[in-house]
Amino acid sequence: MTMPDMSVDIAGVKLKNPVITASGTCGYGREYLTFYAPEELGAITVKCVTLEPREGNPPPRVAETPGGMLNAIGLQNPGARYFLENELPWLKSRGATVIVNIAGNTVEEYVKVAELIDESSSDMIELNISCPNVKKGGIAFGVDPAAVEAVTRAVKGAVKKPLIVKLSPNVTDITEIARAAEAGGADALSLINTLLGMKIDVKARKPLLANMTGGLSGPAVLPVAVRMVWQVSRAVKLPIIGMGGVHDTESALEMLMAGADAVAVGTAMFYDPYAPIKIRDGLLRFCRENGYRSPSELKIKE
Ligand SMILES: Cc1cc2nc3c(=O)[nH]c(=O)nc-3n(C[C@H](O)[C@H](O)[C@H](O)COP(=O)(O)O)c2cc1C
Repeated sequence: MTMPDMSVDIAGVKLKNPVITASGTCGYGREYLTFYAPEELGAITVKCVTLEPREGNPPPRVAETPGGMLNAIGLQNPGARYFLENELPWLKSRGATVIVNIAGNTVEEYVKVAELIDESSSDMIELNISCPNVKKGGIAFGVDPAAVEAVTRAVKGAVKKPLIVKLSPNVTDITEIARAAEAGGADALSLINTLLGMKIDVKARKPLLANMTGGLSGPAVLPVAVRMVWQVSRAVKLPIIGMGGVHDTESALEMLMAGADAVAVGTAMFYDPYAPIKIRDGLLRFCRENGYRSPSELKIKE
């Protein structure tokens, strides 16, 4: 029996396997060192970085929900310069492939932080476009095709590293947004970010999160994410990193069969830090036992 080759190519970057961590769910990698070496995974996507440090939203900012969780962390991070000096060198010294998730409130801010990251040893840049566009009354970049194309084009024009655009699912037609990112010059897409949700504290008779609303993630969102990956993979030619509810081998297989080239594991890390490793091993086993020579052969063609 031939051993499958589990490496995947995302916009010219070779990942040793198709399992990545999702931004915001493993910090900058250090916390997971007690469980396994970060370089065992295809790549580590770090928590978002912004130009200046941010404190994030006041607590409570996370809540459990059926099959998932809500979060309203609010892009808390120590800022790009601190990250580049104190976090990235360690992660790179381990041999990990690193995707840096960046955020901003204006196109100019995105460009500035992207330029800083582009000068670093990181491997790819992921654009989190689920942020409010302060020049457009706070409406998120990611829900407006024109804004998605504009921010993608501006960042792409300023960097040499491959650019992944991370799509927000809080839209009517995800394919329209995916095409806008492709038109702006994205090298790859990742999806989905969290779905806007809310939880009420019935004893207090008020919203549980201080921010009122938050982003829903975890196994509960898997079918939505699989549907969107399916649609987007048929609308654009770009490589896709599928995420949203991936928590075991079967859910990862669903993503890859729907059209993803790699998967990212997020919320599942909180209750099972080994989930990405188990998925990596489970995918290899599945491919070997069923005669697939690479993860790309799993895609449903039609
Ligand atoms: C606590 C938490 C923090 C997150 N922070 C970020 C972030 O900084 N940038 C980003 O693009 N996505 C962020 N996300 C979204 C995840 O990367 C992922 O897209 C989403 O949670 C869906 O995957 P999952 O269901 O496997 O968690 C965050 C999610 C959670 C739960």
